[in-house]
Amino acid sequence: MSWFTRGVLVATHNPISRRIFTSTRAGRALAHRFVAGDTLEDGIAAARRLAEAGMMTSLDLLGEAVTDRDSAVSARAEYRAVLDRLADEQLPANISIKLTQLGLAIDEAMAREAVAELAVRAAEVGTTVTIDMEDSRFTDATIEIYADVQPRHGNLGIALQAYLHRTPRDLERLMPLGGHIRLCKGAYAEPPDIAFQSRAEVSRAFLGLLETLMSQEQTRPAVATHDEALIDRARRLAERRRGGFEFQMLYGVRPELQRTLRDEGYDLRIYVPFGSQWYPYLTRRLAERPANLVFFMRSLVGKDRAGPV
Ligand code: FDA
Repeated sequence: MSWFTRGVLVATHNPISRRIFTSTRAGRALAHRFVAGDTLEDGIAAARRLAEAGMMTSLDLLGEAVTDRDSAVSARAEYRAVLDRLADEQLPANISIKLTQLGLAIDEAMAREAVAELAVRAAEVGTTVTIDMEDSRFTDATIEIYADVQPRHGNLGIALQAYLHRTPRDLERLMPLGGHIRLCKGAYAEPPDIAFQSRAEVSRAFLGLLETLMSQEQTRPAVATHDEALIDRARRLAERRRGGFEFQMLYGVRPELQRTLRDEGYDLRIYVPFGSQWYPYLTRRLAERPANLVFFMRSLVGKDRAGPV
């Protein structure tokens, strides 16, 4: 992870930064680029537009690091409501969930029950549930819950982060469980003893994991990146692949590349976040690209009215 990325993640953790982003028009405008809107209706409308454009979606109700049971219970209910809407709408969409939003930091059993309940409802609706991977305090518990619930329900997937040294072992363990595995670089500030720090090391790790993932057919690979070198490698590996796989990208990031992959005929799923709790998600998107932060600073001082790059 670069000094810039780490610096942004640390600085945006501060309550003053949070206030500057959440209470200014410039902050909300930037969030609007990466987030479909505040409500489920906004998320559904985005999923509908993307479906019309030939893309699948994964709906993410924003929220994480929940510290009280009531919030975790209501997040579970809100996710059920998302699945109910998907049943009505018949959209090519699934859901992405964060286990700390469902109570993982309070009570592991509570998060496990929520995952099982959502897996059952998703199966009734004919869709799947992807478990996002959060920071390394939660990696073990997230993997254990997935390894417990996926074999019983069969319609789950999990994100694995290429920057973690442990991921090759986790991948070997989880592939035989079926489901789908989303391979991403990793978006949190992690120390060198557990995660690669440089761009080159993370890309190399991603490539190794990608080869493994694309060469097996037990699980459906989801290649989650906007990095063209990695996407090119996936394209080449796909030529030799017999099973299905999909590319995944984030709402608002590299839309032209999204259209290119769609036009080339690949399965493409767009991760669509919605909800009012957008600040932590936005900080990760800022940390990934200095230009986003520069745009925000300029619009804050009234120097830029155009969209961010
Ligand atoms: P990289 O950051 O090198 O970006 C490649 C190019 O894409 C950049 O040069 C730029 O052009 C563009 N780009 C990337 N990010 C941008 C941004 N924010 N704004 C503007 N342009 C941008 N992480 C995690 O830890 N747990 C998870 O569960 C997930 N889930 C997830 C789902 C999906 C569908 C995706 C695509 C990504 C994730 N991630 C994630 C995030 C992931 O770990 C990573 O932080 C981002 O995808 C950025 O890395 P890239 O692979 O895109 O490469």
